[in-house]
This record gives sequence, C-alpha cells and structure tokens, in this order.
Amino acid sequence: MTEKKGTYYISTPIYYPSDNLHIGHTYCTVMADAMARFKRLAGYDVHFLTGTDEHGQKIQTIADKAGMSPQEYVDKIVGNIKELWKTMEISYDDFIRTTEPRHIKRVQAMFLKMYEKGDIYKGEYEGMYCTPCESFWTESQLQEGCCPDCGRPVQKAQEEAYFFRMSKYAPALLELFETNPAFLMPDTRRNEMVAFVKQGLEDLCISRSSFDWGIPVPIDDKHVIYVWLDALSNYITALGWPDDPSLFEKYWPADVHLVGKEIVRFHSIIWPAMLMSCDLPLPKQVLGHGWLLLEGGKMSKSKGNVVDPVKLIDRYGIDALKYFLLREYTFGQDGLFTSEIMIKRMNYDLANDLGNLVSRTVSMIGKYCDYKVPVKPDQEGEFTTSDLELQAVALGAAEKVEDHMDRFEFNLALESIWQVVRRANKYIDENTPWVLAREEANRGRLDVVMHHLAEALRIVSVLIYPFMHSTTMEIRRQLGIENHEPVWDDAFHFHRMGGEEVKRGEPIFPRMDVEAELEALEAMKEAEKNPNVPLDLKPEIEYDVFDQIDFRVGTILQAEAHPKADKLLVFQVKMGTETRQIISGVAQSHGPEDCVGKKVIVVANLKPRMLRGLESKGMLMFADNLVDGKERFEFVTTVAEDGNSVT
Ligand code: MSP
Repeated sequence: MTEKKGTYYISTPIYYPSDNLHIGHTYCTVMADAMARFKRLAGYDVHFLTGTDEHGQKIQTIADKAGMSPQEYVDKIVGNIKELWKTMEISYDDFIRTTEPRHIKRVQAMFLKMYEKGDIYKGEYEGMYCTPCESFWTESQLQEGCCPDCGRPVQKAQEEAYFFRMSKYAPALLELFETNPAFLMPDTRRNEMVAFVKQGLEDLCISRSSFDWGIPVPIDDKHVIYVWLDALSNYITALGWPDDPSLFEKYWPADVHLVGKEIVRFHSIIWPAMLMSCDLPLPKQVLGHGWLLLEGGKMSKSKGNVVDPVKLIDRYGIDALKYFLLREYTFGQDGLFTSEIMIKRMNYDLANDLGNLVSRTVSMIGKYCDYKVPVKPDQEGEFTTSDLELQAVALGAAEKVEDHMDRFEFNLALESIWQVVRRANKYIDENTPWVLAREEANRGRLDVVMHHLAEALRIVSVLIYPFMHSTTMEIRRQLGIENHEPVWDDAFHFHRMGGEEVKRGEPIFPRMDVEAELEALEAMKEAEKNPNVPLDLKPEIEYDVFDQIDFRVGTILQAEAHPKADKLLVFQVKMGTETRQIISGVAQSHGPEDCVGKKVIVVANLKPRMLRGLESKGMLMFADNLVDGKERFEFVTTVAEDGNSVT
C-alpha cells in the first residue's frame, strides 16, 4: 500500500480571523490533518491547504472597535491561528491568507474571466442582510424574520452591486447532483441542496460598496469583491491559478473540500457555478461535517461560549485531544461537547485501554524476558486459539481502517484499532504471564505470549500514526523500535520483532479522577472570570517573626458571656495538659452553647491581657466571613488533637 498513488488535495475552510478559534473550529482541521497524514502514509502525494478569510464588513467593524486597522487586527489573530496549528502539529502544506498579494491578483483575474464570459452584470441589490454572517437572505429564507444560520436579526439593505448570473447554472448543478451523487456527501446535505436549487436560484451579489475592507473590483474601484467570491477562490489561487499554474495542474481538481454543514451551500452551489463560469474542472467532492455543540446552544464566539483549545492541549496534550475529537463524533452529525464526555473518553480509551496495554507489555517484557522482545517461535503449529485470534484481529485492522477512512468514518477507523488494543488486553488476562513466570517449564510459552503482545502493540503503533503520531513514536520508543519509521505496510505483517530492547517509560496517558478533574476545570473557568487580584494585606513580615508565634489546637470546654461586655465570650480552652481562660470578641456570631466541644486554633504564647477585668491568656483564631452582609466569625475546624502545634 505504500507505492506511489498519485496526488491527493484536501482543504479546510479558510477561517474568519474575527476572534481566536475555538474547539469547534479545530474539529475540521484535525480531521483534515488526520486524512492528510493517512494518505501520505498510504503513499499519496498530498497537498493540504488551510488559511484565513480576512476581508469583509464584520472584520472591519471588529477592528474599528478594537481601535486597530483591519490589517493590524487580522495579522494579530492570524498569528494566533498559525500558532495554534503549530501547537496542534497540523501538517498543512500551504496556508493562504486572502490579504496576500498572490490571492488578491488571482481573485481579480477570476472576476475578469467571469465578466468576459458575460456572467457578471451591474444591478441594484436589495435584501435582508445578516452582518455577523455577512450574508444576504431572501424573505423566504429567513426563519421567524431572522438569519437562518445564526438566528440573529437581519436588516434591509440596498446598494448598487455586481451580480453573478448564477441562475444560469441551475440546470448544470442539478445534473451534477444527479449524475455524480458522491460530489456532495452526506446524502441529507445533497437532498437539501437539490431542493434549494429547485426552488429557483437567484443571481448572486458579488460586490459591495458600503465598506472598503476587501479586494477592489478590477473594473470598478468603488466596489470591493463580496466575500464569497473572494473566499471560495482560495482553493485555486493558492495553487497559482491562473498565472503560475504548476501546482494547479498537479493538484486540481481537489479531491475533497471539507466544510462545516452551514457552508455546504456555498461550496456545492456557488463554488461549482463559478468554476463552470471559468470553464474549470469541479472539485471531486464536498463533504459537510456536523457541529460540536455545547449544552444549550451552538459554540458561537459571539455568545462567549468558547472552549479554548490551547487550554485543553495544555492540560491533556495534543494527541489526547485529537483522539477525542476524531473518536467521539460521527462525521456529518452534530455532537455534544462536554468536559465530562471528553475526560471519560480519554480515561477509558487512552489511559485504561491503550495506556495499560503499553505499560503492562513493556514492564512484563522487562521483568520476564530481561527487557528483550522474544523472537518469533519456531513451532508456529503450536499457537493456541488465543494467539491466532490476536494475530487475526491485529492483521485485519489495517484494511478496516482503510475502508472507514475512505468514507471519512474517523470514529469507526479508531474503533477498529481499539478492537486490537482491547483484544490484546484480553490476551494478557487469558494467558496470565505472571502465572507462567512462576515455573521455568513455561519459559517457551511465556516467550510466545510476550512476543505476541509486542507484535500487537507494534501494529497498533502504526495504525494510530495518522491520528496521534507522537504517541506512535513514544510507543515505538518503549518497544525499542523508534529508529524504524512507521510504514503502513508493516500493519499487515506479524512476527517482525525479536531481540529489541524495551524501555520502560511514564504512563503514556495518565488516569484522571473524573470528579476532581471536572472541579479543576470549573476552577479554571472561574479563575478566568475573576482575574487574580492580589489581596490588600498588612506589610510583609520576615519568617523569624512569624516563627515566634506558637499556634496550638485547643478544645473549648466551657463558654460564657462576659459579665461586662456584650461582644465578648469567656472561654475555658484545653490544650493538651493545660486548660486556660481566653476571651474572644465573637459573641455576635455565636452563643456560648454553640461553642462547647469545638476545636480552635490558639495563639498560645500571646502575652496575657486584662479584658474588662478578666484575664485572657492567648488568642483564638476564627475565620472572618461575611454572611448576608454581616461579619461572622466561623470556627476553623481541625481534626487534630488538642495541644498539637500548628505548622
Ligand atoms: N470564512 C468562512 C469559510 C470560507 S471557506 C471558503 C467561514 N469561516 S468560520 O470561521 O466562520 O468557520 C469556519 C469553519 O468552522 C466552518 O466550516 C464551520 O462549520 C466550522 N465551525 C465553526 N464552529 C463550529 C463548531 N462548533 N463545530 C464544528 N465546526 C464549526 O465560515
């Protein structure tokens, strides 16, 4: 499978740099990256394109609000986006920015080509405009009077504009959907688009004159090119079309444009119509994926409902996050994103299943085989059913992964790999190496078992490479094969290992306590809401000053009101062998009866003082709380013995 296979061109949408990206955006890029890596491993000459869609009214407005020029604003956010992809080890081959000169001149060339074809004319546009989505809608497309994509209110807008005769291409588009159903998947999306075209296509407004953050229309500098022509053309301008066509000739038509469901319409109707107008071949496939949703609504940047991928990577690592995104969700469908689902998935599949397999295999080879992977046994005829089953499951996985990847079923591809992982863990339980190790007579069998485990793990390390390549390398390091580049073909062979020296390592994925982890995440969120403002404190003291204080734990044996002061209580406090009288100003928070039996921390060496005629020998420590706006002194409860010192 690793012979050269021709080219494979895959793209993500180009993201709006209106704000930093959230976990939902990373979903598409992580899928595209896994596919690009998979195809490379399979021997394809891959071109993986991503980028940013930087023009339009929305960016101009946001930049204004931030007190920056649009260019400064997008430069900043695009810097963050590139940094994010670097952190996530996204293996793109090119990153196109629509503000780059190479893009600008080629979009203008595309406009001219469509104009010369007679497909562009000047007219008057009136429509309902959704500013956040930068979309005009017809009345019939609105939902309850609002934008059908984001649900926000729209405004009536009118202006002179250039139009693309998209209506002309309706019959060709319908024919495309009919004769080449694979062009747009999943089927449900295609059915929606067929219905949309049948409703009657309107010509498309492709210029704006109400703002100027865009690419000038080459025949009329009062206008800028409206954002969808600017954006969609990135897929060919990045390849150098039309003036530097070597990459274009090599990679176009694209094998797949991977896009979110709400922009399928632009990619499967507007984009093909534009390409038809330019007499260019159409992409082979547009694939619409579902959305990651937060409980209670979509993961919209505008609603402040954001989950920051950088924070998640900091906490769980890139591979765990990528694995979760690819394993949890079904391509084409929406899925719920919650921390609990994420942590459980990471725990069960990564820490328990894969992590355990790695650590058990490596440590047992260390312990029972002196750190050397045993060679293939001479007597293959003596394989047990358990051996043969493990071999079959491991050897059958690569083909299953290929089939699933052909259909973009990342979750099922990973599930096929995890069948090997789980079978190998069961194999350990069936063969109980620790029992075999008790008698020298079992030496031969023990070697066969450890050889099988190393082989299964080696195959797993190859299979997971497109999805989590760092984990592949760590497993291979522990197995002593880090110097062999993973090759897909190796997943089709058992009995490759023998004599390698294994190295024990840290658990590849730590196990988390779900409840504690959820609390930690909640605390992180709270910390973001409440920035860390230093407390207003008395001046700093040196340690030796502090060290002069003798704190002790005391138990209150008696408490009564001070005869001469409303605020004071008189306590008899036992500290180990000594009981003494201490007076404290907490009468407004506690009645004497509440206090008896309670433990308190005592400053035991404070110089005695007379308080309204009674001696107080020390000080009790209370926490000073505000309850319903009133000061309340609470006991600082301890579980220590009285008399103990407090450190
Ligand atoms: N700039 C346009 C695309 C132009 S492509 C020629 C755009 N940008 S976007 O930043 O708003 O969205 C980029 C992609 O992110 C879209 O495919 C969109 O579906 C995807 N996602 C945004 N939020 C998402 C989730 N919560 N979940 C999954 N994908 C999501 O549209």
